Amino acid sequence: MPAGWFPDSWRARPRLQQPAYACQAELRAIVDELKQLPPLVSPWEVDALKTQLADAAAGRRFLLQGGDCAERFNDCRADTITNKLKILLQMSLVLVEGAQVPVIRVGRFAGQYAKPRSEDMETRDGVSLASYRGDLVNRPEFTEAARAPDPHLLLRGYSRSAMTLNYIRALVKGGFADLHHPEYWDLDFVAHSPLAQDYQRLVRRIGDSLRFMENILGARPGEIQEVDFYVSHEGLLLDYEEAQTRLLTPARRWYNLSTHFPWIGLRTSEADGAHVEYFRGIANPIGLKVGPAATPEQLLRLLNTLDPANEPGRMTLIHRFGHGRIAECLPPLVQAVRQAGRTALWVSDPMHGNTRVTSDGVKTREFDDILGELEQAFDTHAALGSRLGGVHFELTGENVTECTGGARGLSEEDLGRAYRSEVDPRLNCEQALEMAMLIARKMTALNSR
Ligand code: PEP
Ligand code: CO
Repeated sequence: MPAGWFPDSWRARPRLQQPAYACQAELRAIVDELKQLPPLVSPWEVDALKTQLADAAAGRRFLLQGGDCAERFNDCRADTITNKLKILLQMSLVLVEGAQVPVIRVGRFAGQYAKPRSEDMETRDGVSLASYRGDLVNRPEFTEAARAPDPHLLLRGYSRSAMTLNYIRALVKGGFADLHHPEYWDLDFVAHSPLAQDYQRLVRRIGDSLRFMENILGARPGEIQEVDFYVSHEGLLLDYEEAQTRLLTPARRWYNLSTHFPWIGLRTSEADGAHVEYFRGIANPIGLKVGPAATPEQLLRLLNTLDPANEPGRMTLIHRFGHGRIAECLPPLVQAVRQAGRTALWVSDPMHGNTRVTSDGVKTREFDDILGELEQAFDTHAALGSRLGGVHFELTGENVTECTGGARGLSEEDLGRAYRSEVDPRLNCEQALEMAMLIARKMTALNSR
């Protein structure tokens, strides 16, 4: 455990993005209750993921991380959860083709309930109320009662995370992800998309290779049909994260067992702040969002604090610059990290730098901007002798209309039809799968160079 660190040492540091609860005694009672509840994941799973992320940093695996910008408590339903697993699984199959290495699947779910906001207050028609900060904190309806931070939601969030994870584990264990039946994962998309033939060819190839391995190599089915899913969320609400931080006794290491893979958001990544203090002491692999304002000095200082031992798999740097800025912002950071003798897994989040607001005031993202940032991320890393080792998306398994573009050419007029996000716009399932196919193509082209 690092010197001077305790699960609550963050309390002595300046804290950003934390809700102003009306009653501290009530908050404390709820946090004490959370501390008694069992953890949601095990330290052995967390360590297994860290080893896989170290492999990805070394070029032996590729990371696919994705899910909603913010989960909602009322999305904790069988169909929504199944659709999220399904789209991640389909994307991962497509990506394996391009990457030619195993793909690590990490959901932004089972705990992605707290959101950082740029403004503390929201004003409508002259009335100002606290901003909606995710279902773990308050509710989106624009009333005083709904927007008041409610500590009971911390318990509800823990329960919803546990139910989600429980169902995911049941599906995975029960054969949902059995690679022998990729045809079960067909989407309506396949009928409409210009990429339909590619997808069907891929499904056939997977079936052929499975039969090849089983028949020719004599591999036992159990060895090759298992697929893993890990979960991640932004470690934002420190009262909640602290309550789920547990000491693993023989190793004397503290783990955040609310999730496998927590990340530090862009707005809470200052080196002296409460979030970095909390994260430096936990043994989990850590994601760090990196934006256009990051300097090489700041990034190296953060890495020294969060990962003094340069431990394999510890740090994943998730860059999100925007398609217009990445070519200028990325190279100095990659060079600085390399010159410092550090290893990190570099991942592109092509969503958060490409948000725009339509003339009607709707938040959206354009498919080609997202793809543009990703393609530049692959090329820029390759040109520097580095490697893009993963991708991070905001997506959903539902047929929403929140991002424009893609094979069906969604326009701004289409956004009103099925816009459900309370926060950032997500790729819908067709756009997400199409994106995976286009990146697989890009990786194939890079590999053959
Ligand atoms: C997010 O991932 O939803 C998010 C808020 O991202 P960032 O911290 O990069 O702005
Ligand atoms: Co977001």
